[in-house]
Amino acid sequence: MASATVQLKVRPEDLSQVPKAGERIPDPGIMVIFGASGDLTKRKLLPSLFHLEQDNLLPKNFAIVGVARRPLGNEFAEDMRQGIVEFGGVKADDPKLDEFIQKVSYYALSFDDASHYAGLKAELDRIAQEKNIGPDRLFYLATAPEYFTPIVENLGAQGMAQPEKGRVGVVIEKPFGHDLDSARELNHQVNAVFHENQVFRIDHYLGKETVQNILVFRFGNGIFEPIWNRNYIDHVQITAAETLGVEGRGPFYEKAGALRDVVQNHVMELLSFVGMEPPSSFESEAVRREKVKVWRAIPNIPILNAVRGQYGPGVIDGKKVAGYRDEERVNPESGTETYAAVRLEIENWRWAGVPFYLRAGKRLKKRATEISIQFKQPPLLIFNRMQSSGPCTEIQPNLLTIRIQPNEGIALRFGAKVPNTPNMSVCPVNMDFDYASAFGTSAATGYERLLLDAMLGDQTLFSHRDGVETTWALYTPILEAWAAKNPEVFPNYFAGSWGPDCGNRLLERDGRSWRNNIG
Ligand code: BG6
Repeated sequence: MASATVQLKVRPEDLSQVPKAGERIPDPGIMVIFGASGDLTKRKLLPSLFHLEQDNLLPKNFAIVGVARRPLGNEFAEDMRQGIVEFGGVKADDPKLDEFIQKVSYYALSFDDASHYAGLKAELDRIAQEKNIGPDRLFYLATAPEYFTPIVENLGAQGMAQPEKGRVGVVIEKPFGHDLDSARELNHQVNAVFHENQVFRIDHYLGKETVQNILVFRFGNGIFEPIWNRNYIDHVQITAAETLGVEGRGPFYEKAGALRDVVQNHVMELLSFVGMEPPSSFESEAVRREKVKVWRAIPNIPILNAVRGQYGPGVIDGKKVAGYRDEERVNPESGTETYAAVRLEIENWRWAGVPFYLRAGKRLKKRATEISIQFKQPPLLIFNRMQSSGPCTEIQPNLLTIRIQPNEGIALRFGAKVPNTPNMSVCPVNMDFDYASAFGTSAATGYERLLLDAMLGDQTLFSHRDGVETTWALYTPILEAWAAKNPEVFPNYFAGSWGPDCGNRLLERDGRSWRNNIG
């Protein structure tokens, strides 16, 4: 396929109009991270907090207290320093790093031992007094999910959830439940202690710039919304493809699988941004209400419209990799899916009849998260009969691709006349907006924005209890059907491929195919 690319650039004089950092700074407070000895704290949370510090977005009087079971002392802060350098792309001699590390301390506690929480409360009061910090607290639960409830209940029992003054919130990592019943129960337990406006159910995809940019693209521009519907759109594909395997998280992944780990949350969040009606404002309630409306308009997904796969050994980037069943701490006969694909529809006036195809998988050919929106062909293809003699054989439909990662951007494919050909030969070309080259910055991990919003009490980019229950309600019947019947043919795709045949058949049945030329 011949193709040409048009690069869109932002003019430097326009960039200078972008508001500078420092506009929204939380009040002085303490962030308490439960499960602080885990990977997430070192790889994502502390580097992101340090990026906020570099951008002058943290209050001057601020403390971070890591909490976990292991007895650790100062080595915790030093370990975090290493994490910031290694995973945050920060220079070891960054002038702000020493000062930042002074704000980090550690408290050892057993999450489910109620008698330990009075000590934690006293420790936070001591730090607050010493560092002249007010009553704001943000509790971040980055533990295994079975500890979410005991931690919340113990914080409540010590009166740490509802202070008389200040802002107190709780951030809860995914997985938020493992099916509808467990999500409901967890919501009930959390809301018995924290008011819903204190609860931040985090999905780091919502912190990604390009995910937020979907709303800007749709509702900050006048020309796309009129064609954003069933009259012009043929179908939508959402792909979340990873080349990584389970990376030592075998026991977690064995219980999760691709549908629970990525589709029910990250992919459904992307779908809601593509599918929602324009909210009346960019305020938490307005945005979250529209998202839930989209999910609620999805009818039950027939089991035939959901397929699963598991990778066997294969080659990724020229290197041999093991199959899932040979990964560390994975059952050698595991029936857990590492790939899931779903076909669904949204039954409302905007979308009726437009299929949405979703897929997520590990050890696929390429790391790429992308949404592609394929438009219908023009009603009469007057140039098609001339294609056989030109460089392109068939006129291709317009395609809008939103690249979430790794090469964040948006491209629009359209047909253009090939110059200097006597016939009307049409080839596809791309108008391509690339975040990095347009703005000269690379997008952050997603956690920076979300941590800041949680400290500020802004819930717009966090999931509401109704939202998580609605998406679980959609996927629980599929998970139950899968659990009741182990697939006979696992593994059914090679690591380094685009997934199992059943995934391809899901689209072939409709006369379509996955867009694999992505990223
Ligand atoms: C996490 C999943 O939520 O998202 C992981 O638990 C997955 O299994 C990760 O690898 C993908 O995130 P990202 O930002 O790398 O696309």
